[in-house]
Amino acid sequence: MEDKRILIAHSDRLTQRSLYELLCRHEYVVDIANSFEEVLSFMQENGYPVILTDISEAYSTQLLKEIQQRPNPSRVIILTSLGNAESAVSSIKMGAFDYLVRPVEDEKIIFAIENAVSHYLESNEPQKDFSLKKHSKKEDVYNGLVGQSRSMKDIYSILERISNSKATVLLRGESGTGKRVIAHALHMADKRRRAKPIVEMSCGALPREIIESELFGHTKGAFTGAISDRKGRFEMANGGTILLDDIDSLALDLQVKLLRVLQHKEFERVGDNKTIKVDVRIIASTNQDIEKLVKEKKFREDLYYRLNVISINVPPLRERLEDLPLLVEYFINVYSKENHKKIQDITSETISVLTHHKWPGNIRELENIIERAVILDTDGIIDKDDLPEIILEGNLFISAGLENKVIKAFSSLKHAMQEPEKVHILRVLSEVGWNKKKAATKLGVNRTTLYNKMRKYNILTGSEK
Ligand SMILES: Nc1ncnc2c1ncn2[C@@H]1O[C@H](COP(=O)(O)OP(=O)(O)OP(=O)(O)O)[C@@H](O)[C@H]1O
Ligand SMILES: [Mg+2]
Repeated sequence: MEDKRILIAHSDRLTQRSLYELLCRHEYVVDIANSFEEVLSFMQENGYPVILTDISEAYSTQLLKEIQQRPNPSRVIILTSLGNAESAVSSIKMGAFDYLVRPVEDEKIIFAIENAVSHYLESNEPQKDFSLKKHSKKEDVYNGLVGQSRSMKDIYSILERISNSKATVLLRGESGTGKRVIAHALHMADKRRRAKPIVEMSCGALPREIIESELFGHTKGAFTGAISDRKGRFEMANGGTILLDDIDSLALDLQVKLLRVLQHKEFERVGDNKTIKVDVRIIASTNQDIEKLVKEKKFREDLYYRLNVISINVPPLRERLEDLPLLVEYFINVYSKENHKKIQDITSETISVLTHHKWPGNIRELENIIERAVILDTDGIIDKDDLPEIILEGNLFISAGLENKVIKAFSSLKHAMQEPEKVHILRVLSEVGWNKKKAATKLGVNRTTLYNKMRKYNILTGSEK
């Protein structure tokens, strides 16, 4: 079988040997080439979906060139040591498919190979590898939030449960993880409030006095520059929602005033003693360790407890990479419309590169990168050349690290889409003590479908485990 054929062209004998054994155990048909000439002659005779090589040898540059010229070129995986990591990056630019930095677990090697094989097979198929609009399902989107990971689905479910209550919510998560979009989703999910405004206020950027009058309003002459009466944002949000961003940076005396609003829904405008009552849902957000601030007495404990009644942790993108393909698809749609461009596809190789990145700027960073790619693209297919250098370069260190999850969830795009299903099935099976009848009912499928899926994902039943 052609798709099980692999050529090892590695200069180190010991590596050759251990790769050979590993691949044979996984039922690959393995050939070993010891020189550039041998590689060429093996390639004349057989089609190899994957060639495993290192880059210390002078021939890898030449090899990559040779391979690229063939009709359905083998996917080249570079297996290198950390010292050669730089050249691994340049070989990716020259057309290598993936690289692994040693030491690396066997499991990762196998995943990388499976990914490369499916990429190779996909490109033999007539249709494109990642069809936009195919992947998102209704349940993966919630009031403008996109995501199918367990953590996002948990968030959807919390939002749904609290949508028609008055609950105050604290959103916690790194910058760019989507706290603002979650606040908007909650506002939209609240049937009574959504016809009213959602008003936002950043508690960080402005001087304390301005924040106070922005929040609570002021009367004419309350301070220099107060030339007329002015409503604050709490009043503007009446009947709706207020989002207090970066709540951790609110001055301590304003924290006292906010606590009063939380408890009694009342306050006074600056310079006035008339009490104003409002009906507002309060959502606060922070990307700081707020417990630490409480300990350091920089944040009031009573306010913290009030805010923290319902707190939602928004995980960083690197911990929910299952969402990445969907988000990519979503942003491609948004930005191709905005820029009047027709983007049909993105290669699965590009998705794979994206999943290697650490995403310190989270979804905001991803969004910017996709927007840029859409703008730069010329042929309707987003390719890794449409990504900025920094994403291609950053790749490396993750391979070197031990972020197993990355490889596991993304050995290929197909896997990327399947992994959550597999995990979900496993979870349900273990919940019902591996009773398949119960599991099928819980999953809402018949037993045959469950069996088929279990076979597909290689899930062993209780007794086989
Ligand atoms: N789940 C999601 N689905 C769709 N778009 C998202 C999602 N999460 C984030 N985004 C997009 O990513 C960008 C950043 O999100 P957002 O502004 O909500 O982050 P944030 O957590 O409030 O960041 P910060 O702490 O820096 O204010 C926005 O353009 C937003 O539309
Ligand atoms: Mg925000």
